[in-house]
Amino acid sequence: MYNVSMVASPPAQRLKLAASLTGAVWAAYCFRDVERWKLAEKHHLLVEQAAALEELLNQEPFTNWLQTAPQAGARSRLLNSASLPGSARLTAFSAGWQTFVLVGTAQNLTHPQRRIWKLATVAEAFPEPSPGQVGLLQHTVMELRQTQQELQARISAQREAEARLIQAAKLAAVGEMAAGVAHELNNPLTTVVGFTELALEEIPPQSQTYIDLEMVLKEARRARSVVRRLLDFARQGETSRIKADVNEIIEDVLLLTKHLMHTNNVQPHIRLGENLPWALVDRNQIKQVVINLVNNALYAMPEGGSLSVETALLPRYNRQWFTLSIGDTGIGIPPENLERIFEPFFTTRGDRGGTGLGLSVTYGIVTDHGGMIEVESRLQAGSVFTVWLPLEDAA
Ligand SMILES: Nc1ncnc2c1ncn2[C@@H]1O[C@H](COP(=O)(O)OP(=O)(O)O)[C@@H](O)[C@H]1O
Ligand SMILES: [Mg+2]
Repeated sequence: MYNVSMVASPPAQRLKLAASLTGAVWAAYCFRDVERWKLAEKHHLLVEQAAALEELLNQEPFTNWLQTAPQAGARSRLLNSASLPGSARLTAFSAGWQTFVLVGTAQNLTHPQRRIWKLATVAEAFPEPSPGQVGLLQHTVMELRQTQQELQARISAQREAEARLIQAAKLAAVGEMAAGVAHELNNPLTTVVGFTELALEEIPPQSQTYIDLEMVLKEARRARSVVRRLLDFARQGETSRIKADVNEIIEDVLLLTKHLMHTNNVQPHIRLGENLPWALVDRNQIKQVVINLVNNALYAMPEGGSLSVETALLPRYNRQWFTLSIGDTGIGIPPENLERIFEPFFTTRGDRGGTGLGLSVTYGIVTDHGGMIEVESRLQAGSVFTVWLPLEDAA
């Protein structure tokens, strides 16, 4: 019966009741108040005894003993203090976060006696936490949250890196295979083109054979140009890089496509960052990148639209990058295609002359420059391709 009233009663009364039931010499609540262990409710402790006990608790080995006491359960040790006669044993019962009920007894508490003390310190019986405790707790929670956030950030960075690695490996494998096939095809195609041209010279231009052979020639040339582009892709190792004004390269390309934009009813919005540092690049390759991205953007807007070209200096991963974003207001890319668009030969424009090489070549060039390429797209709204080129460190 007593346990019910004990739990509901105020702390001082609980100590008194538990002490009388277990023959304890004294008892007290003790809690961590920022820097020090302090006593709260005291039972059978004189003022100077309480002071002596508090002093003791804030010295080794007691401080460490309390600090490492289990946050649930009890722990007991010898107490040898002249100020606290008759209590050779000190037992600490966990009573919450950094809070204990300390009990002084002549001998070890028996199992049932321990149970009584545990009952006296159950969760409902916690004293109100002190402002210091609340502060500490809040601080700890804050730190935990911060750690969690940092961890989350690291995990997602790791995932990103892994995804990029897998993508790179996949592209490298397909690219290598494609390059092998391209080598095999280049010579026979050159032969086909050459001999067809020769044959055409021998045939009257009005004949059906002439028309047929012209078709053969056209298709063979197309196939050869695909093969050549593939070989270019494979030959990325041999590049000549110089420090160049990438804005200037972009402007050159835009000048070439001006007419195309106009006839396609596409409005250009060009915002090139001012005074951007020069980057170490292969000019022709970067030109190729811009052409590929602009072409794709134009293809994506058969009805016209707006094409944005922006460059900037942006930090990422503790360094500076030259960024080029090419955005369109076109058809967008379905999510299921997004991860495939950089694969060689992936195209949704096969019927309209697409080869599926533009983006894989672009990807190859950009990563070869130590850069990255990202894409954001919304169906029927448009896409933005962003190229990140690393800049040399100031050092
Ligand atoms: N700006 C864009 N808007 C919509 N789809 C795009 C865009 N750029 C690329 N794509 C998609 O990615 C595919 C692959 O592009 P790419 O490698 O340049 O090959 P191709 O242009 O020959 O099809 C395209 O067929 C198209 O489906
Ligand atoms: Mg393309």
